[in-house]
Amino acid sequence: MLTGGLGGAIVACSVAWAADGILQKSASQAALSALPPPANLSPAKVALGERLFHDPVLSGREKLSCSACHDLNTGGTVRLRRTIGYDGQIHAFNAPTIFNVGNNYRLGWRGRFTSLAVQNEAVLKDPGLMAANWTMLLSRLTDDPGYLAVFRQIYGVPPSRETVLDALVTFQMSLATPNAPFDRFLMGDKGALTPVEKEGYRLFVEYGCVSCHQGANIGGNMFQIFGVFGPPDAEELSMPSDLDRRLQAPDGEESVFRVPSLRNVEVTAPYFHDGSAATLRDAIAIMGRSQLGRKLPQSDIANLEAFLKSLTGEYNGKRLSAVVTETVR
Ligand code: HEC
Ligand code: HEC
Repeated sequence: MLTGGLGGAIVACSVAWAADGILQKSASQAALSALPPPANLSPAKVALGERLFHDPVLSGREKLSCSACHDLNTGGTVRLRRTIGYDGQIHAFNAPTIFNVGNNYRLGWRGRFTSLAVQNEAVLKDPGLMAANWTMLLSRLTDDPGYLAVFRQIYGVPPSRETVLDALVTFQMSLATPNAPFDRFLMGDKGALTPVEKEGYRLFVEYGCVSCHQGANIGGNMFQIFGVFGPPDAEELSMPSDLDRRLQAPDGEESVFRVPSLRNVEVTAPYFHDGSAATLRDAIAIMGRSQLGRKLPQSDIANLEAFLKSLTGEYNGKRLSAVVTETVR
């Protein structure tokens, strides 16, 4: 039996875990829940938002679209440690997935934004990201007869700051990925998880991963220090990192991050705010060491990995996948 760790209090006895019913019940105790379907969204607004999301017309020099960094074909992100911004500069952070973003109560690695509209406007105006401004953007959209007609039809007015943001946000709210094996399990299908995945789930609760990664998004609903038990050893990281520098910031504030959602984490490598962990196994090992103060045995890491892979859901009825041939840069 495992002792210590933040989850010690959640599950005291491992004998009872044998029964699936208890595993399922423990989900509600541990504040995990199946992904709710997207709220009643207007299909016309979703379609307009989707078009805008993929359109470079939204960026200063018409070269970058939202999907350039949040590619729906590669897990809603890009396989880069950190994205390349508008001026060719490396952005401070790894791009989080855009899938299930409507369930995050705070946005961004620092969790500084509380609403999608406010965050989207900041991305649009950020000189290192979309480098746009409203005057330029709205005149481009108004000059485009196609856009003008659709905005008039849906909103009854020409493109405006409010309507552009509303369409973009409505589209992002639609980006839910239901029907992951774990969700099917939570909804009563006992055969939806393999024995290995169930063992990984048991460990996820027992080790206390669930004390930080919880809710419908299995994360995304709280702030935590990265490095509760100290910064990860340099040799544990697959790639050079500036984690140590951040963790050692004198005010201590630098090391606080929004706990990321683990949904679809199988297809969103590389991991962490600086993309310093290339594989899921590396990320799990580092979590054990830095967040729980323990060295996880390889067999537990493998089981936890199997569980995390059961969190991969579907978009438009198709299981998400990542382009595996691309290498992490
Ligand atoms: C050049 C790459 C790039 C482009 C283009 C880009 N993003 Fe992002 N996006 C990022 C990065 C990097 C972050 C993380 C920033 C942070 O945490 O401070 C992010 C974060 C986000 C988040 C927060 C997700 C979460 O769970 O916290 C949302 C929402 C988002 N972007 C939407 C958009 C939209 C909408 C557009 C187009 C208007 C867009 N992005 C264009 C790189 C990009
Ligand atoms: C004390 C809170 C806490 C605990 C406990 C915890 N995590 Fe995390 N987890 C975090 C935070 C915070 C991050 C973001 C770190 C960063 O990038 O700076 C994170 C990131 C991750 C990531 C990378 C996600 C991504 O998209 O980059 C994975 C995978 C992960 N955790 C899995 C686990 C597993 C498995 C466990 C249990 C063995 C665990 N975590 C325990 C807080 C926690």
